[in-house]
Amino acid sequence: MIMEEKDTIQYKAAELKEGESKESLLREADGLRMQIRHHEYQYYVLDAPEISDAEYDALTNRLRAIEALYPGEVPPDSPTRRPGGYVAPGFTQVKHMVPMLSLGNVYNAEEMGDFDQRVRSLLPPGTDVSYVLEPKIDGLACSLIYENGWLVRAATRGDGEVGENVTTNVRTIKSIPQRLKVPEGEEVPELLDVRGEVYMSRAAFLRLNEERTEAGEAEFANPRNAAAGSLRQLDPAVTARRSLSFFAYYLKGPEEPETQEECLRNLEKYGFTTPEHWCVAHTKEDILKFIEEHDQRRRELAYDTDGAVAKVNAVWQQKLLGATGKDPRWAIAYKYPPEQARTKLEDIVIQVGRTGVLTPAAVLTPVKLSGSTVSRATLHNEDFILEKDIRIGDTVIINKAAEIIPEVLSVVKELRPETAVPFVMPKECPECGWAVARKEGEAAYRCTNPHCPALGREGLIHFASRDAMDIEGCGPAVINQLLDAELVKNPADLYELKEEQLLTLERMGKKSADNLLKAIEKSKQQGLDKLLFALGIRHIGAKGGRLLALHFKTMDALMNATTEELAGIKDIGAVIAESVVTWFANPLNRELVERLQKAGLTMEMQALTVNESHPFFGKTMVFTGTLPTLDRATAQTMAQDVGAKVSGSVSKKTDYVVAGEEAGSKLDKAQKLGVTVIDEAEFLRLLGGGEVADESTAPSAEEGNLFAGLAEEKP
Ligand code: IVH
Repeated sequence: MIMEEKDTIQYKAAELKEGESKESLLREADGLRMQIRHHEYQYYVLDAPEISDAEYDALTNRLRAIEALYPGEVPPDSPTRRPGGYVAPGFTQVKHMVPMLSLGNVYNAEEMGDFDQRVRSLLPPGTDVSYVLEPKIDGLACSLIYENGWLVRAATRGDGEVGENVTTNVRTIKSIPQRLKVPEGEEVPELLDVRGEVYMSRAAFLRLNEERTEAGEAEFANPRNAAAGSLRQLDPAVTARRSLSFFAYYLKGPEEPETQEECLRNLEKYGFTTPEHWCVAHTKEDILKFIEEHDQRRRELAYDTDGAVAKVNAVWQQKLLGATGKDPRWAIAYKYPPEQARTKLEDIVIQVGRTGVLTPAAVLTPVKLSGSTVSRATLHNEDFILEKDIRIGDTVIINKAAEIIPEVLSVVKELRPETAVPFVMPKECPECGWAVARKEGEAAYRCTNPHCPALGREGLIHFASRDAMDIEGCGPAVINQLLDAELVKNPADLYELKEEQLLTLERMGKKSADNLLKAIEKSKQQGLDKLLFALGIRHIGAKGGRLLALHFKTMDALMNATTEELAGIKDIGAVIAESVVTWFANPLNRELVERLQKAGLTMEMQALTVNESHPFFGKTMVFTGTLPTLDRATAQTMAQDVGAKVSGSVSKKTDYVVAGEEAGSKLDKAQKLGVTVIDEAEFLRLLGGGEVADESTAPSAEEGNLFAGLAEEKP
């Protein structure tokens, strides 16, 4: 909904009260600049904001209001004069070809109208003005430089002039082409600067936080911080593991598009993903309509958008309008009000998860928030509650972190009743009464009972979930019913369920029972990777399951693997190895696996269907050197899965050499023989069905090939 002015007053430029002296205002401005710098550092460098975007905006708006009164007193380095952003130590710096601008913000219909008015007043009278409306993706801006069609450099915005060189990390993002797709007959642009937003989907964000909690690491506050933290990683292997995506919205090259519309179309043509929803608007009303529609739609999107961006469509008009300091005059961001609500914290309850972690949750007086009624919110862990000094009986402000999970933001201390009760973590597990313990260096308390009933229940819910065995219709409610009726105790019991048993459950008709049985049957084909993830072995996430399945191929082989063997696999490491061996050493777990096997579950890695038109089908490939993210055996298996022959030595018959770091004589030989040499990124791209580079434009083997691209040289 578009907010009326009165609703957004707290986020708007703070009005100056009468009687405030110049001296006190200037002092306040100084204080604000310090605060803003502190928060920018938290946000941009540490990826750990202490305040919400709205609170940050309120600070800068207040500062702007004061500076507008005394423009002569604004220091040149005021945060209002340059994009907030820093280059973090550890990255090399890249100067942007064209400065990377930020965007001014508006918060309501009236301010949007003012923007439209100003644009029209600055253009020649009678100019036909149209706008492109796009969602404002909540991620971080990135500039990608393509030379002769090849991605050679990627940089974050940094301070707008100079950014961080994140090329290697960006190469691991699947939606960013390593090479532009250029339609036949069209010339490959010599130089192109593509800009857009690197973001993390909500699902990937939730998964990442789950893994971090499990590993005793701090959670990311929202997908934006998670994306920034993942892209600005000194170890690209870490970036590669976290799924990041990219939406492109800007392109600059020798041949300029005439409009923003054309720019988006060109980006699509070159193989980029552009924002899913955008439109052309001719009037203020059209603009507001898109903003309203997008507000309705954005909750259902797989990623966060925190507003909409209006951009003057015609590039000649953009140029005429120019920029003020860090913001273009031809574009503006409409920010949706942050969804927050005030309510009473009635109680704090403890939930026990499938790994035995105790998570405190707030029981709230039900309140409306972003279109739904919220009565629970996460409190993360003991430290979170103590830091925010949250007490039972307090009035709290909640919001939706990542627009999905409600979270307690802060306490309204003035409203604290005398009877408010500070939180104490229970000493015993609320599910089974066993002692709880907190390991040094971890934020989480865990139940020490290996047979805690919560583990069974949450383990079953996890087993049946989408990313695991994907048993449709077998969500938490059904699992709880099955447990209450004592029809199942562990995952193997699911496969012995009979229709008559299901029919005894409440609200379970014949049709649902049939569907459930069909879904259970179908899940038997999920394959070893999903099954390993589903079993809930500590530290084995979806990726771990896949790595193990790829390496061992069968459950039997994995069950008999030693710790040393496991720890030797890249990306597995000692902790996971130990955890796997311990799990299989438990006779109860072995029995479970045996029962699942008898029930007919596939205990092998699903063979990928071999597609004869795959670029690697029938090709002879040699792997050499250390690859940045994959271990060699995994990479070889991946190639074999699509029909490649893997060989140990390079000859004239070799089709591809996949070379990593410190590739020695094999790489030399390949270059001498003129064999195509590719790096891991290209290998993965082709593996995923990407097109093979056309010989005439691809750098040749003699020049060091794609390999050189990684070293940031012109291919
Ligand atoms: S255009 C000169 N379009 O919002 C134009 N920015 O608050 C500059 N953003 O730095 C950017 N979605 O990181 C543009 N569709 C979109 C956007 C977008 C998200 C980000 C971008 C920018 C920030 C400004």
